[in-house]
Amino acid sequence: MKKDTDWFEELYNNADGESCNIPWAKLEPDPLLVEFLSNNTNLQGRALVIGCGLGDDAKAISDAGFDTVAFDISQSAIKWAKKRFEERDIEFSVHDIFKLPKEYLESFDFVFESLTIQSLPITFRPEIIEAITSTVAENGKLLVVAHGKNEGEKFEGPPYPLLMNELGLFEKYGLTQLEFSIYDEASNLSSLKFKALYQNQCH
Ligand SMILES: C[S@@+](CC[C@H](N)C(=O)[O-])C[C@H]1O[C@@H](n2cnc3c(N)ncnc32)[C@H](O)[C@@H]1O
Repeated sequence: MKKDTDWFEELYNNADGESCNIPWAKLEPDPLLVEFLSNNTNLQGRALVIGCGLGDDAKAISDAGFDTVAFDISQSAIKWAKKRFEERDIEFSVHDIFKLPKEYLESFDFVFESLTIQSLPITFRPEIIEAITSTVAENGKLLVVAHGKNEGEKFEGPPYPLLMNELGLFEKYGLTQLEFSIYDEASNLSSLKFKALYQNQCH
């Protein structure tokens, strides 16, 4: 039976090594991540990239000095990322966010999530947000970048842009929101972009 995530592997596998066939691949790190890294040079340690695709965000995080782990559900994406950054000491591996290995739990000082939550149907929201939250170490930080929409707006999907209040699930699962920004980013896929920074604060 086909799973909701099978199309990612098909897309990467059928791309013939041409990144122009991967709609979200820019072959450069997310500018909001680059800005965050340059403003937070005191943050160091182990980092995790969720749904890393072709690996550019993982490379930027590794360049910033983190011991970097990056995973994606697509074997072809991971093979491609490993080939692009083979001289780099980045641990790229194939994992499903819903079946993470035990050693990922509360293990990362910095976690970066960009555009994975919105790529899965809305019914997966609580489960994926709980899974991402579970990887952040005590005192660790999580930076989330996601496309968003206003109440009442309809987009066919995928992607399925987030409503601002869905980000509240990160707090429900135990993180504290430190920063939040909204950008206008109107397209046929979404109307807004959200950037949110969380911390797993000791209580
Ligand atoms: C829209 S892309 C975003 C890729 C990258 N994070 C970026 O910002 O360019 C979503 C990525 O999440 C991966 N993905 C989807 N479902 C996943 C899952 N259950 N576990 C791990 N990765 C998943 C896809 O293969 C894809 O590479």
